[in-house]
Amino acid sequence: MEYFAYQFHITDHCDQRCEHCYIFSEDHQKCLDEMIIENIEKVIANCVAMCKQLNRRPYFYITGGDPLLHPDFWQLAASLKNRNIPFGILGNPFHLNDQICQRLAEHGCRKYQLSIDGLRETHDAIRKPGSFDTTIEKIDCIRKAGIDCAVMTTVSGTNKHEIEAIVDLVVANQVDIFAFARYCPTGFEKENHIDPLEYKALLSRLWKKFEDYQDAEITFNLKDHLWNLFLYEKGLFEIPEGLDAQVMVDGCNCGNCHMTILPTGDVYACRRMESQIGNALSDSMHDLFVGKGMDAYRQYDQFEKCAKCELLRFCRGCPAVAYGYTKNMYAADPQCWKEV
Ligand SMILES: C[S@@+](CC[C@H](N)C(=O)[O-])C[C@H]1O[C@@H](n2cnc3c(N)ncnc32)[C@H](O)[C@@H]1O
Ligand code: SF4
Ligand code: SF4
Repeated sequence: MEYFAYQFHITDHCDQRCEHCYIFSEDHQKCLDEMIIENIEKVIANCVAMCKQLNRRPYFYITGGDPLLHPDFWQLAASLKNRNIPFGILGNPFHLNDQICQRLAEHGCRKYQLSIDGLRETHDAIRKPGSFDTTIEKIDCIRKAGIDCAVMTTVSGTNKHEIEAIVDLVVANQVDIFAFARYCPTGFEKENHIDPLEYKALLSRLWKKFEDYQDAEITFNLKDHLWNLFLYEKGLFEIPEGLDAQVMVDGCNCGNCHMTILPTGDVYACRRMESQIGNALSDSMHDLFVGKGMDAYRQYDQFEKCAKCELLRFCRGCPAVAYGYTKNMYAADPQCWKEV
């Protein structure tokens, strides 16, 4: 049975105020929302009911802010355990220790994702002083508990020259999974553009690095959908024959197998862009998913550039990055270098 992924932001509380963060970008003094445990239980039940109707298995990415700062975090973890629902955490390093990691593992946490946004100086400038060293220190703590440690890098004009060094760093620290995604411009540093050919060159250098590390026990998750373009041009990906022309085989999960829930209950098609479709405390998640609101995010023939591209069903770039630049998710991906 296929998984359906819910990114569940249970709290805005966080020890950092990263300059690029979509939560605080418009307002660093933002009122911090947090969902009370009774509502968290309601949301989980709503998602479970949806998956039952669609014959999917729920998977939760519990996140924030820092989900460990939620006062009833362990009640939520126990609830997922009782329901036999696997989950991962996208969180911060500051409140982890051996005991907490062990407890997370016992509750069914499979993966803990930390962020590394540069080498020490750059990372700490984006996040906060000391953040880099604490993050590196906690990798081992997570892995010792038997939880996969993932590292995510948000690539922007600020750190684009350090991504290869981050790959060396995560390999040296025995991280299990490494991925990166591009910064989606919000209120902050909209001018921080990466040129399409520059981005292609970056992917090319990273591919070489991944090859150099093919014997290392790390999974390089090719999360950015422009990897599909890169592999296609390299002859490492071929368009399969005989596929249903309407089916989106790969690429952006928006409108397809992913939804995000905020601490207010607001449901977004994707957290990285303004895309609210309803509220998980008042609407049925199933109805939201199959409804008109979500349909607005799967008008594949509306993609201004991708609709003319043979990779439409496998890529579609990152609509949230396009939205960040233009306020139109169907605009061309600003880093796509393909001529169509
Ligand atoms: C909101 S954070 C929550 C987990 C944790 N606090 C962290 O920073 O890793 C989840 C991920 O979203 C990324 N993120 C935040 N704002 C973003 C933006 N405007 N564009 C792209 N990614 C962003 C963060 O860098 C992080 O990797
Ligand atoms: S640590 Fe995560 S949630 Fe907190 S401000 Fe940074 S990106 Fe946002
Ligand atoms: S045009 Fe769209 S589908 Fe084609 S390679 Fe570019 S982003 Fe991907």
